[in-house]
Amino acid sequence: MPRPLSATIHTAALANNLAVARKYAPKSKIWAVVKANAYGHGLSRAFPGLRATDGFGLLDLEEAVKLRELGWAGPILLLEGFFRPTDIDVIDRYSLTTAVHCDEQLRMLEMARLSKPVNIQLKMNSGMNRLGYVPERFRAAWERARACQGVGQITLMTHFSDADSDRGIAYQLEAFERGAEGIAGARSLANSAATLWHPAAHFDWVRPGIMLYGASPSGVTADIADTGLRPAMTLNSELIAVQSVDPGHTIGYGSTYKVGKQMKIGVVACGYADGYPRIAPEGTPVIVDGIRTKVVGRVSMDMLTVDLTPCPTAGVGTRVELWGTHLPIDDVAQACGTIGYELMCAIAQRVPVRAE
Ligand SMILES: Cc1ncc(COP(=O)(O)O)c(C=O)c1O
Repeated sequence: MPRPLSATIHTAALANNLAVARKYAPKSKIWAVVKANAYGHGLSRAFPGLRATDGFGLLDLEEAVKLRELGWAGPILLLEGFFRPTDIDVIDRYSLTTAVHCDEQLRMLEMARLSKPVNIQLKMNSGMNRLGYVPERFRAAWERARACQGVGQITLMTHFSDADSDRGIAYQLEAFERGAEGIAGARSLANSAATLWHPAAHFDWVRPGIMLYGASPSGVTADIADTGLRPAMTLNSELIAVQSVDPGHTIGYGSTYKVGKQMKIGVVACGYADGYPRIAPEGTPVIVDGIRTKVVGRVSMDMLTVDLTPCPTAGVGTRVELWGTHLPIDDVAQACGTIGYELMCAIAQRVPVRAE
């Protein structure tokens, strides 16, 4: 028997979440962002739920080729573009669209021998200072791209740093408008947060990622409470042991949790080697037997320990939800000082995953 730990991908939730993105940005086309193996959900498992999209955005050439092999004939966008001249052969062969964010990439395109022009998304650095041309240099880059025989359609692209928080997008939108002024072409700006909360940034294409997986771009569950988004991944396990621990005794490595009153502790088959964060502190929520309780003691490689006080009938074999349908991944992430993105992407290879 395998360990009783598994992740389930909810195909209907993915399809629902894509429909939510459409509802929020009804006039825009959608790049469904499936980088990092569809945020840990598995590209081939996520594909059926997201195939009503207009295009897929991802990072790795291998993932792009896999999408073609899965039967996707529509647009695929390489969000960071390409890294070596040989990558352009793959772009050409599989008819990929690519971001272009620097002169080195433009130069590689100028030198490339292509069977047909490549559609590009020319990226502006509108304030995030990660990738792209600053507004002052954007027009020159666009003119150079336009003069390049290997370049087909040019979409104007930027990425937001604070669409999920108080600073917002105004400072970047202003920079983008300034740099793109008078330049023709479709626009692609909005991540999930801007898709949900900044209609002024929708333009021609939106690029939602995290919302498709049913988690909050801000990391706060309440922020997506009224959106209709549903968790696309549930991580389930079972209790594999129960201990009745006397007052004064401690739980797990480092003896970080000391028992006050006599208590029952459940041992769950899930640890940091499965992708559950070792940093999860006492109090991190977990659902046992349908009841919300908490992690106590340090998470170890293959197991973690939970307080069974609120679930007195729980025993070996009782179902445990680490996150998912009944426990938002953002609640777990918040307790751990991170965001749902990181947890879902970190699901380890050894965890069996199935789609339903
Ligand atoms: C260029 C680009 N667009 C869109 C996204 C999707 O972002 P989110 O998952 O916050 O919607 C990402 C992810 O980081 C990205 O790098």
